[in-house]
Amino acid sequence: MSTKDLVSIIVPTFREAKNIPVLTERIHEAMKAARIAYEIIVVDDNSQDGIAEAVDALRKKFPISIKVRLTERGLSSAVIEGFRLAKGTVFAVMDADLSHPPEKIPELVAPIMGGSAEFVVGSRFVPGGSAEHFNWFRRLNAWVSKTLARPFTTVRDPMAGFFAFPKSILPDLTLLNPLGFKIGLEVIVKGNPRTTMEIPIQFKERLYGESKLSIKEQVNYLRHIIRLFEYKYESLAEMIKFGFVGGTGTVVNMAFVFLSYDILSISYRIAVAIGFLVSATSNFILNRTFTFPKSRQLHSAVQYALFIVVGGAGFAVNWFIAVYLYENNPFFHEHYLLATFLGILGGMTINFTGSKLLVFRKGTTSA
Ligand code: GDD
Ligand code: MN
Repeated sequence: MSTKDLVSIIVPTFREAKNIPVLTERIHEAMKAARIAYEIIVVDDNSQDGIAEAVDALRKKFPISIKVRLTERGLSSAVIEGFRLAKGTVFAVMDADLSHPPEKIPELVAPIMGGSAEFVVGSRFVPGGSAEHFNWFRRLNAWVSKTLARPFTTVRDPMAGFFAFPKSILPDLTLLNPLGFKIGLEVIVKGNPRTTMEIPIQFKERLYGESKLSIKEQVNYLRHIIRLFEYKYESLAEMIKFGFVGGTGTVVNMAFVFLSYDILSISYRIAVAIGFLVSATSNFILNRTFTFPKSRQLHSAVQYALFIVVGGAGFAVNWFIAVYLYENNPFFHEHYLLATFLGILGGMTINFTGSKLLVFRKGTTSA
């Protein structure tokens, strides 16, 4: 990329009319001094606070445009809409409230234009960066949020709404989930930049208006993190859920043995079989809906039968490993619980891989 690149600066807004003129002028000064071509794209969610008129007036002097959305709402989906409208090869995103210093945009986009980074964040948490006015609640909140984002990136301020990246890392914008509240993190996970960089910024309290950060957004953030985890670490996420379902199965199994044997006075032999069948069924239902929700390849009756077969195979493997070790190895003869454990591990591996690749397989039906 070269200095001839057009930088599209995307600014999501909700009730920010008062901030737009100052923001535009400061962006213009910064970009002019750095000799970088730019366009500003405001995506407003029908604030009706005079922002459309304000942008109209600014348009005479600056390369700015506005898209007012009437039906859709939300920060991330507004930013994604901005990506769609953008004509540049470099995308930058920032808040309208002057929390993010426009003077830093040239520094933010330079590594991208120079090809030394594919994602640059204006960061509060690197030396030189700050967020002085943050109270303890927002501090704690920021710490928890960034810790949860650790599995996805080494960036220390992945929550930042001030970042830039080359259009080329996201050829398919439909990959972006508009429900993802932290759009920067969403871009990191879906765009998978080869190199990231952080530029220190001093985060300022907003100029006018009030923050939209609420408890609801915190809950949404948690859901977002879980979705990103499932996207990036699909098998691991499935394994964790499969294990969790297995845990519930054990409880169900024991509850039904107790119910059958103790309360209904059915013979223990039958009670154990009932416990197994009921828990295998509840495991099946949970795995079908919760662990592998996208698997609708086979008819559910076929899936159920296969699940029981895989469970049987898992048990057989469990039994053979444990018994083989116990009978052929003096060490395991003595440490028979270790042999038992290794058997369980082997059985679980069969259960999981069989469930994933056979019972709940994805993709097109094979002939
Ligand atoms: N179009 C649109 N729709 N814009 C929105 C919406 C919405 O539903 N909600 C918020 N915005 C705009 C605001 O007008 C502002 O320009 C920007 O998104 C950020 O919103 P703020 O309300 O100022 O967020 P904040 O100050 O609490 O959060 C900032 O700091 C966080 C880190 O602590 C933002 O920069 C976040 O992106 C950042 O993660
Ligand atoms: Mn703000």
